[in-house]
Amino acid sequence: MINGKCVALRHGQIIGNMNFEHKVIWIIGASSGIGAGLAKALAVQKARLIITSREYAALRSLEAQLEGHTGCMILPADMTDNTALTQVVAHAISAYGHIDIVIHSAGVGQRSLAIDTQLSVYHQLMNVNFFGPLTITQYLLPHFKRQGHGHVVAISSMSGLMGFPMRSGYVASKHALKGYFETLQVEHTLNNFYVTIVSPGRIKTGLSLSALTGDGAPYDKMDEGQLNGIPVNECAVKILTAISRKKKHVIIARSERLLYWLRILLPPAYYRIARKRGMGNQ
Ligand SMILES: NC(=O)c1ccc[n+]([C@@H]2O[C@H](COP(=O)([O-])OP(=O)(O)OC[C@H]3O[C@@H](n4cnc5c(N)ncnc54)[C@H](OP(=O)(O)O)[C@@H]3O)[C@@H](O)[C@H]2O)c1
Repeated sequence: MINGKCVALRHGQIIGNMNFEHKVIWIIGASSGIGAGLAKALAVQKARLIITSREYAALRSLEAQLEGHTGCMILPADMTDNTALTQVVAHAISAYGHIDIVIHSAGVGQRSLAIDTQLSVYHQLMNVNFFGPLTITQYLLPHFKRQGHGHVVAISSMSGLMGFPMRSGYVASKHALKGYFETLQVEHTLNNFYVTIVSPGRIKTGLSLSALTGDGAPYDKMDEGQLNGIPVNECAVKILTAISRKKKHVIIARSERLLYWLRILLPPAYYRIARKRGMGNQ
């Protein structure tokens, strides 16, 4: 603790004040990967948590691993069940009487060429990755307006910044997500309301295991890139730093960052390299 504020440590260095103590933070997609990493880091900082995903048992097991939190409510929900989401938001608000920060980390990946992908897979990707976060945010905006503050964090992807093979629906959903949240930032209609868009590159999670193939079956393989990706706890610290600094956009990546800059500065190289890298997943 420094001046009553929690600080996060990375490689033994203080990286900035992060005061999440007693903040009510709703993490959607908390049962694994980045969402679970954020829940663990925020619990240590004594945040009050609401944790959501489809699987009650997975959330229960996460809750048992959280150390230090000042409250944790388990709220199972399926982002594709659009009609249930009004009730889900109402339950989330009633847990502690208000919500300070919502983190949209629920997501599903894809591993299939556009030509081999059924329309139902595109619908599933858009529903989980875009319409879920959109619907919940739309329901929360009046709440943030009433209470006079709020912060929404959208875990997008570098796939929200450029095209990449085998991920046409995933890329489309993340572009839509970034487009919606960037527009909220530009409209800026509420006081003390912040949106942080996070664009990770490869993070070491099981995202590729549950990624959808062309007929909707899970890919069920761990991508090499993901296996060697940024560790979840490192990613979580970077996300929390961006939130505490109220950053509008943060990219969390290693060499994938280069591809993004190539797309802007040297497009022919981007098309060649992205194709070569991405088609290797076939
Ligand atoms: N890992 C990466 O390299 C990477 C890179 C860029 C962006 N991202 C983004 O980061 C976010 C988190 O992914 P991750 O890497 O941490 O993968 P993950 O471990 O597979 O986490 C995905 C989370 O989403 C939840 N989820 C999936 N479908 C859902 C649904 N229909 N309703 C509610 N929750 C649902 C999962 O929980 P249940 O299955 O229990 O419902 C899980 O908690 C995603 O938005 C992903 O696109 C990841």
